[in-house]
Amino acid sequence: MTEFTLDKLPKKVLARIDLQSAFMISRCVVAAERLQVFRKLHGKKLSAEAIGRKIGVRGWRIEVFLAALVSIGLLKKTDQRYSNTALADKYYVRGRSIFWTKRYSEWCCREYQAFSVLEKMLTTEQSYASILGIDSADYIKEMKEDSQWANDFTHMLYYAHLPHAKALAQNLDLSNYHSVLDIGGGSGVMSMALVRKYKHLKACVLDIEPVINVARKIIRKEKLTRRIDTLIGDHDKHIPDGFDVMMYCDAEIGDGSTLDLAYESLPKGGLVVLVEDYSSDDWTVPLYRLMWQLRSNSFWLKNRRQMALMLRESGFKAVKSRRIYSDTWLITGRKGLARKRGVSRT
Ligand SMILES: C[S@@+](CC[C@H](N)C(=O)[O-])C[C@H]1O[C@@H](n2cnc3c(N)ncnc32)[C@H](O)[C@@H]1O
Repeated sequence: MTEFTLDKLPKKVLARIDLQSAFMISRCVVAAERLQVFRKLHGKKLSAEAIGRKIGVRGWRIEVFLAALVSIGLLKKTDQRYSNTALADKYYVRGRSIFWTKRYSEWCCREYQAFSVLEKMLTTEQSYASILGIDSADYIKEMKEDSQWANDFTHMLYYAHLPHAKALAQNLDLSNYHSVLDIGGGSGVMSMALVRKYKHLKACVLDIEPVINVARKIIRKEKLTRRIDTLIGDHDKHIPDGFDVMMYCDAEIGDGSTLDLAYESLPKGGLVVLVEDYSSDDWTVPLYRLMWQLRSNSFWLKNRRQMALMLRESGFKAVKSRRIYSDTWLITGRKGLARKRGVSRT
């Protein structure tokens, strides 16, 4: 999925946006996503009244809302009727799944809430949730409580990670390996790209139960049940033996103790694979991770150098990193013959 970053907007539109009040414009786009304006207008030209009826907006607000979307460059108006611009069609309809439209925009609204109390978070060390008197967002808990949520989340990442999976298969040489454990593997999208490239390879997706229930359906639909197995589990508690590659793609590694478990389970010469949008050494790139860290309750941000160090602390050798797609990095390490013990985690 290619994100709709500001550089995609025409210069004359960008020139109208003041950074301090840009959040209002961004919020309008999030509302359009939540109301599915661009999907409902795909291939159509409709009057304001007709669009209002489709999205449930009445009175004068529909004209103003649509004028804002015209001003941003996402809709055009001809003969009193509105249609998507090429940009809206490319990024908001063809370029993303319906799961992204539905769920990511919900997250964005949570972020608006969090950032509305940023100064108080910065100066009081309180979390946004306690300042606002709401529950902290916990996507694992939400998936465990709501199977629809787990379904949408897992499908959303399946579609969003297709290009990352393609890039991984292009950049990771698994000719000499036989079986991959895809830890926190979600839909199994990464495993799918790898087994399709390496015909001798088998994979197993390890994840929590509600996600595995969805992954099984996707793997079946992709006709890969003979090549990709699934396993319900908690990667912080147990990593099974029997795999010569342990892979973490966009998976939470926390303090690195899960890497210790992976190390113990790998045979000698086994490979660990990390794929993630790791921060640059000065943390400034990618900016979205810096923003997520800013509104978090505890410090979790890791840069590439720290991740490589973490792998070495778990005993891995020959640690290498390479940028494979946009801000996404591939880091690999190999289990050597003897574990370097006694390195303490900080
Ligand atoms: C951001 S998703 C990435 C999914 C997949 N690797 C991909 O690249 O599309 C992280 C996944 O890790 C899983 N996960 C998080 N904590 C876990 C744990 N303790 N044990 C097993 N799976 C976990 C989540 O359920 C989720 O599917």
